[in-house]
This record gives sequence, structure tokens and C-alpha cells, in this order.
Amino acid sequence: MTSSFTGVRVLTLDDFPDLRPLFEKTYQKLLLDNEIDEPHAPLIKEQTQIIQDKLKNPRSVFFGSYTEGQLSGFAGILPITDIITDYFREQGIFVPQGAREIGGVYIGENAQGQGHAKKLLEAALDQLHKTGTDHFLLDAVFNTSQSYWTKLLGTADHILLNYWRKNDHHMIWVRKIEEILSRLQDD
Ligand SMILES: CC(C)(COP(=O)(O)OP(=O)(O)OC[C@H]1O[C@@H](n2cnc3c(N)ncnc32)[C@H](O)[C@@H]1OP(=O)(O)O)[C@@H](O)C(=O)NCCC(=O)NCCS
Repeated sequence: MTSSFTGVRVLTLDDFPDLRPLFEKTYQKLLLDNEIDEPHAPLIKEQTQIIQDKLKNPRSVFFGSYTEGQLSGFAGILPITDIITDYFREQGIFVPQGAREIGGVYIGENAQGQGHAKKLLEAALDQLHKTGTDHFLLDAVFNTSQSYWTKLLGTADHILLNYWRKNDHHMIWVRKIEEILSRLQDD
């Protein structure tokens, strides 16, 4: 029998022992799938620390998605990163007032394709909407994740070309929460 999505809840730092192996495994596969040729172990260590710091940050809210009591994926409402704010400032691009970033979206391999990412996005946007936030930003770096977000959110608004290395771009979407939320709720 295949098990599937059973619910979403807010995560705390106490959930880090469950989140860590899920993140490390998913991130390792992401590096392999995107043919990143730098040594993977230091990248995984660095990114695991970044995720832990984001989970600790009182300005972040992380949501976990579950499959029969087991953490299967997660996503966060995050403060907007310096990469985005610096780029927008340099380019004279206006960041919508009060906008927050959605990031750290990772679904374990066995749970992918079962709607976890959409349910996590819906939970995060619902919380932002209820607290009066109008816009969110999303930044994707890997080709495989860029194709996912392009399918869900449409064409990216900003592309930071060759940001980390040649052919390695940041794609940034700025979207109205109400619009994406109603689309997700209609699905
Ligand atoms: C990309 C990712 C977040 C998608 O999460 P998910 O829970 O598997 O996605 P959902 O089940 O909500 O959505 C499935 C839909 O997306 C499509 N999809 C899934 N991965 C896709 C991809 N890489 N490119 C384009 N479409 C994709 C499916 O075809 C399906 O379409 P449908 O609704 O028309 O049938 C997940 O695969 C993942 O965590 N990958 C590794 C980490 C990662 O890339 N994170 C994003 C960092 S910005």
C-alpha cells in the first residue's frame, strides 16, 4: 500500500532531529540531479547549518508535512535574504511592503509528487494572508526546482544570471498571496 500526505503542522527547533536527515538526503539528491560538481559533503554541512539557523530565527515560521506521523517535507516563511534585497536595491526594484520570502522547501524523495509542496505553500500563504501580508517572494537556484516553481507560479519576474557560477542563475518570483492561495485552494 502507498502511504500519502496526512497533514501539515508548524515545526519548532525540537523537530530538528527529524528534519536534519530528511534535509541531508533530499539535498544530496538535489546536488546529484543538478550535476553540481563541487564536493557535496561541505555543501550539505553548510546548508544544514543554514536551515538550522533559519529554524532558530524568531522571524521564521517552518511548516512540516506528514505521512502517517512521519515528517516527509517542510517549508518556511523567512525574512527576505540579502541576495534579494541587495539585488533589488541595486536595480531600483521596489519590494512590496511587508512582503516575506517562502523558502527552504524540501520534500523527501518517497513523498514527492503527492501534493506535499503545494499543501505546505498553502499553509504558509494562509498564515501570511491572515496576518495581513499581501505579497511573497520565492527564489530558486537549481534547474529542477526552477522548473517546478515555473509550472506552479508562471514565468519568474527576475533572473540573476550566472550568480554562483556559469549557467547557475537565481530565479525570483514576486506574487500576490491572494491569487496563488485561491489557485491552490481550487486544486
Ligand atoms: C520540487 C519539489 C519541492 C516538489 O514538491 P512535491 O511535493 O513533489 O510537488 P507536488 O506534489 O506539490 O506537485 C506535483 C506537481 O508538480 C510537478 N513537478 C514535480 N517536480 C517538478 C519539476 N522538477 N519540474 C516541473 N514540474 C514538477 C508534477 O508533475 C506535479 O504536477 P501536477 O500537479 O500537474 O500533476 C520536491 O520535488 C523537492 O523537494 N525537490 C527537492 C528539493 C527542491 O528542489 N526544493 C525546492 C528548492 S527552491
